[in-house]
Amino acid sequence: MSANKGERLRAGVMGWPVSHSLSPRLHGHWLARYRIDGSYDAIAVEPHDLADALSRLAERGFKGVNLTVPHKEAALALVDRIDETAQRIGAINTIVVEDGVSLAGTNTDAFGFIENLRNHVPDQIADGWSARTATVLGAGGAARAVCTALLDSGVRDIRLVNRTPERAAELVEHLPGLKQHATICAWDDRAGALVGAGLLVNTTVLGMAGQKPLELDLADLPHDAIVNDIVYAPLETKLLTQARQRGNHVVDGLGMLLHQARPGFRAWFGTDPVVDDGLRQAVLAGM
Ligand code: ATR
Repeated sequence: MSANKGERLRAGVMGWPVSHSLSPRLHGHWLARYRIDGSYDAIAVEPHDLADALSRLAERGFKGVNLTVPHKEAALALVDRIDETAQRIGAINTIVVEDGVSLAGTNTDAFGFIENLRNHVPDQIADGWSARTATVLGAGGAARAVCTALLDSGVRDIRLVNRTPERAAELVEHLPGLKQHATICAWDDRAGALVGAGLLVNTTVLGMAGQKPLELDLADLPHDAIVNDIVYAPLETKLLTQARQRGNHVVDGLGMLLHQARPGFRAWFGTDPVVDDGLRQAVLAGM
C-alpha cells in the first residue's frame, strides 16, 4: 500500500474487530455528497499491530484515521501530539497526519455529545439548562466524554450513578474539574438521583441490543428534563420510550455518533460536513 501526492485523500477507522463500525458508511455518505475524491475504509488492526499501523499511516498516504475499540487508550502513547481534550478524556478517537509526517490525536466524543443536544433541543439548551443538575448513568469511557462536555458547557452540578461506585470515584478523581462539581449516587438509589435534574444521560450499555434493559423509575424526574440515551442500537430504547410517554424531551444516541465524526472529516477532507436526515438515514440503513 503506497500513496503519492495527487492520489485520493485517504482516511479510515482502525479497530479490532472493525466490521461492525458505522463510520465507513457515515464518511462514505459525506464523500459522495460533497463529491470529494477520497476514501474511508474499515481497517482491521490487532492490538499488537497498532503501533506499526500508526507509524506507517503517513507513508501510506493517509490524512488520518478514527480509532475504535480497543485502540482508543493505547493510542495515547503512540502519537506525536495529544490535545487537551484527548488528555482529559484519556482516549483518542481521531488522528490527523500533520505536515505529512506527525500524528496529532484528539477526542471528538465530547463535541459530538453536546452538538447532538444543541441540534435536537436548541431552545432548552439555550434556556438556562446548564444551571440545572445533570444526572449521568455510567462511569466508563463514554461517561468521561459526557462529563467533559458538561463541564465545558457550564454545568456545575453533576450526579454520577454507577453500578460499581469505585469506578465513579475514579472518574471523579481523574477527570480535571469534575471533583468540585460531582456527587456520586448509589446505583440502587438511581431513581432518587433524578430529583430536580434538567438532563438525564444514559452512558451505560444497558438497553443496548443483547444487553439487559435499563430499569429506571422516572417518577421523580422533572417533566421538562432532557433525556438522552447514548445507546443507538436500538434507536428507541426503553428509557426513551418511558421518557417520551411522560412528556420529556428525548434525544437518541445516533446523533452523537454522527456529530463526533465532523471534526475528523473536516481535517482530512477539507469540508465542514452537515449532519442531516439524509446522513441519518444512510447510517440507519447499515444497522
Ligand atoms: P464505555 O467505555 O463504552 O463507556 P465501559 O467502560 O464498558 O464502556 O462502561 C460500561 C458502563 O456500563 C459502565 O458504567 C458499567 O458499569 P460498571 O462500571 O459497574 O461496570 C455499566 N454497566 C454494564 N453492565 C451493567 C449492568 N448490568 N448494570 C449496571 N451497569 C452496567
